[in-house]
Amino acid sequence: MNTATAPLSRTTVTLHWLMALAMIGLTSVGLYMAEFEVWALYPIHKSVGILVLLLAVLRAAWRLKEGWPTPTGQASALQQTLAKAVHWLLLLSTLAMPISGMIFSGASGHGFGIFGLTLMEHRLDPNKPGEVLPLNAGLSELAHSLHSIIGYVLIAAVLLHVAGALKHHVLDRDASLRRMLGRSTP
Ligand code: HEM
Ligand code: HEM
Repeated sequence: MNTATAPLSRTTVTLHWLMALAMIGLTSVGLYMAEFEVWALYPIHKSVGILVLLLAVLRAAWRLKEGWPTPTGQASALQQTLAKAVHWLLLLSTLAMPISGMIFSGASGHGFGIFGLTLMEHRLDPNKPGEVLPLNAGLSELAHSLHSIIGYVLIAAVLLHVAGALKHHVLDRDASLRRMLGRSTP
């Protein structure tokens, strides 16, 4: 049952921490590889990102079926609204980041796959040896910008989210973090 004192389901807890780890990891690797042009990391970033999309769809479906966890503690209506807005933003970014990445890589002609299994071909330009032939340069640019902008929104949302989780645990001393760690609540 979904109440303030009932423990969260194992599915909610497992999906939360798997996704949290994957999203923080992919954001850090994405920023690092783009800044320092570490080409070897690109296929790994793409492969893990596509796998994350599968998990994100599962998680969004689970949320729609189960509803959101009931808030613990005595947070004001404003705090609860802010927390809910950040949760929506985080959940939507787990879908929007891999989708924008796939559109961007596909439309640019670079293609993508999952650890050697090609899902979209790398298109070489027959007239310019060594260069890729974009499928749709405008769409690729738009999706690239979205991938960056949503990435920065995601970083801000995660910082707010972690600050909120620590405030609940340390200052309010309520059970929200313990509950998300799979511990039972008093
Ligand atoms: C949850 C999934 C993902 C997250 C959180 C994520 C995050 C990021 C971030 C933060 C950047 C740096 C952006 C910048 O500096 O402008 C980046 C770069 C990149 N991402 Fe992703 N990404 C994800 C999935 C994907 C997928 C599925 C693909 C393609 C199939 C992809 C392709 C790329 C590429 C090619 C870059 C390099 C952009 C450049 O060189 O400017 N990403 N990613
Ligand atoms: C170290 C980092 C993180 C900590 C300490 C943390 C902690 C928490 C806690 C305590 C809750 C329960 C809130 C409540 O009971 O109202 C929660 C919920 C949630 N968190 Fe995180 N979180 C972290 C990272 C992330 C990341 C990176 C994402 C996604 C990108 C994320 C997405 C969510 C979502 C969508 C919820 C709502 C409940 C659910 O759908 O499972 N969290 N988090």
